[in-house]
Amino acid sequence: MTARVLNDGEAVEPLKICMIGAGGFIGSHLCERLMYATDHSVLAIDVYGDKISHLLQPGQKWSHRIEFHKINIKHDSRLEGLVKTSDLVINLAAICTPADYNTRPLDTIYSNFVDALPVVQYCRENEKRLIHFSTCEVYGKTIGSFLPKDSPLRNDPAFYMLKEDETPCIFGSIDKQRWSYACAKQLIERLIYGEGAENGLEFTIVRPFNWIGPRMDFIPGIDGPQDSVPRVLACFSNNLMKGEPLKLVDGGQSQRTFIYIKDAIEAVQRMIENPARANGQIFNVGNPNNEVTVRELAELMTDVYCKVSGNARPEVATVDVTSKEFYGVGYDDSDKRIPDMTIIKTQLEWEPKTSLYDLMEHTLTYQHTTYAEAVKKAMSKAIVT
Ligand SMILES: NC(=O)c1ccc[n+]([C@@H]2O[C@H](COP(=O)([O-])OP(=O)(O)OC[C@H]3O[C@@H](n4cnc5c(N)ncnc54)[C@H](O)[C@@H]3O)[C@@H](O)[C@H]2O)c1
Repeated sequence: MTARVLNDGEAVEPLKICMIGAGGFIGSHLCERLMYATDHSVLAIDVYGDKISHLLQPGQKWSHRIEFHKINIKHDSRLEGLVKTSDLVINLAAICTPADYNTRPLDTIYSNFVDALPVVQYCRENEKRLIHFSTCEVYGKTIGSFLPKDSPLRNDPAFYMLKEDETPCIFGSIDKQRWSYACAKQLIERLIYGEGAENGLEFTIVRPFNWIGPRMDFIPGIDGPQDSVPRVLACFSNNLMKGEPLKLVDGGQSQRTFIYIKDAIEAVQRMIENPARANGQIFNVGNPNNEVTVRELAELMTDVYCKVSGNARPEVATVDVTSKEFYGVGYDDSDKRIPDMTIIKTQLEWEPKTSLYDLMEHTLTYQHTTYAEAVKKAMSKAIVT
């Protein structure tokens, strides 16, 4: 076992954790951490279990501490029973891919708000602690984005830094359906906060800022639908493995901060094991030092992929597309997302460590070794048929 973090001198008792959405990207890394480095048990709930299949093989030293329950939480009465038998509930389940927000707004709103409601209700009724995964998208656009392009105030952190307890949530108009996700996440946050204030629910809300690493999303046509569009890391990896230019939406001018999944999981472990410091808090979890425009991200990923694959740098690395062509009508975007880290630093004494270059090298090495061969085969098959 690794040394415990914080907990103010108290021993950490092993917990039974009901983890909903455990089979996804973040869930798979969190399950790994809990199995490899703690004594906690996990009731892993998801529709898919592929990303945690390595943890579910019988005969491993943690096998008695993890159970997989293939459940769709939309309509399964077993959920309440699993919540009742646990000490802590972590809800990660969501539709959370930008390409879905304006093309499947109803599924997005149902998944992120309606389906999360019973989870909150069961936690309140059974007095269980809840760690709920929200998103940095709840901030929407920065205040600075409404200033004239040449305003010096755009460089003042007061106009762009995103603070959990101060920054307003600014979304676009209703016909910009992109905001269906952020708005549903904001409403469930408000409901959870209200349950805390009125009914004493013990909760922590996590706002991830672009966590990336191995097992994020899928590669279309390899381990996911051919015609689906995953998040930016998988989109760009797919282009790189196919030797295609990377598609930059609306000039790739949006600015993002990226954090390595393993750094972020460390923060979540601290929330799990330090309820006195985490309850009632909303935490930004990101790496403010790793900021790039999406265009710079594309350039960096091209360089790093050439290094890890040994491929030559393509003559044309990127191509511009409009958001309407790429995502369809109703798309809109946040301009810039830099997390203020004051609250998480103070409460959990946590800071991210991994640089953008290093996290990209780890991640693209994984993408290359996991997928490059299969992508090549699929491409040669498509040419032959
Ligand atoms: N990865 C990020 O950087 C990021 C950023 C912002 C917010 N988040 C939030 O973190 C959470 C986890 O994100 P992720 O990146 O791991 O996404 P993911 O899509 O990889 O994982 C979500 C998991 O939830 C499961 N799920 C969805 N609906 C379900 C249902 N009805 N019943 C059972 N299982 C269901 C999916 O099968 C999937 O395995 C989400 O709530 C997401 O909104 C993540």
